[in-house]
Amino acid sequence: MKTRITDLFGIEHPIIQGGMHYVAFAELASAVSNAGGLGIITGLTQKTPADLAKEIARCHEMTDKPFGVNLTFLPTVHAPDYPGYISSIIDGGVKIVETAGRNPQEYLPSLKEAGIKIIHKCTSVRHALKAEKIGCDAVSVDGFECGGHPGEDDIPNMILLPRAAEELKIPFVASGGMADGRSLVASLSLGADGINMGTRFIATKEAPVHENVKKAIVAASELDTRLVMRPLKNTERVMKNTAVERLLEKEASLGKNIKFEDIINEVVGVYPKIMKEGTMDAGAWSCGMVAGLIHDIPSCEELIKKIMSDAKDIIKNRLNDLI
Ligand SMILES: Cc1cc2nc3c(=O)[nH]c(=O)nc-3n(C[C@H](O)[C@H](O)[C@H](O)COP(=O)(O)O)c2cc1C
Repeated sequence: MKTRITDLFGIEHPIIQGGMHYVAFAELASAVSNAGGLGIITGLTQKTPADLAKEIARCHEMTDKPFGVNLTFLPTVHAPDYPGYISSIIDGGVKIVETAGRNPQEYLPSLKEAGIKIIHKCTSVRHALKAEKIGCDAVSVDGFECGGHPGEDDIPNMILLPRAAEELKIPFVASGGMADGRSLVASLSLGADGINMGTRFIATKEAPVHENVKKAIVAASELDTRLVMRPLKNTERVMKNTAVERLLEKEASLGKNIKFEDIINEVVGVYPKIMKEGTMDAGAWSCGMVAGLIHDIPSCEELIKKIMSDAKDIIKNRLNDLI
């Protein structure tokens, strides 16, 4: 299938694996890219720019297909060494960067000079338009369903994607709630040029996370996520667990007076415990409502092949037969 996204990134299928903290290591990114999608390494999971350089080199050893690096600009107390991470990306010969969080404008000149294509992830039409204006090559439009940070507008993809299609000139992929061939066809119908998936790719054979995480996603229904940090205007969609229940109780009792320090135990430093050790109640971890559509743990190749063949079947048979 050829779309503006497959053309832009030189990939076979219009399927991207979004950056995911402590999940998107070289093992997952290379498996997605080898299967014809676009795999993405999460830059900030690597503690230093030198570590990211090593991770990029590992990924090059595992695939000769294009892959990208995610750079997340979230509000943090001590800003990471972004210029250092960017140098590792450029020196490592990576040609695609997924930016997310704050406006990436100040870092665009150095990335663009190195011939890197930028896909910015955003949760609203106005931020997507801003990304287009400052020179991003594509956007990933993340609806309210998504795992991770859905923003504060709460617009689901059924509205957000056609609105993005009405306004944008650059290509965009649909993100949040995507799992299968149905998702891909629906996204294309709504005007997108492909899909970006997070949660679905965690429940794959190659995702280098503890089996407990994959099993938790398969066991979860669409009712099992919660929104946390809403009062701090840093909303995150996470899988419910005892730590999340505790966090939500604090949010309810402290109300407007809540500070980040009040919930630090539930959100800081928890990813290694969950993703590596499989301690599922260690804290809040991002997960999308799409968990309700995930019933198996295929390889990335099996998953992507099935998405593409189901999508073609829906278009050629189910939809064609209706007219
Ligand atoms: C466990 C997990 C960690 C994530 N970490 C990041 C991250 O560090 N940076 C980022 O830009 N997005 C992150 N995301 C968001 C994904 O890249 C993607 O946009 C989102 O998962 C799409 O929604 P879906 O889960 O419904 O597919 C994360 C998502 C999950 C599930």
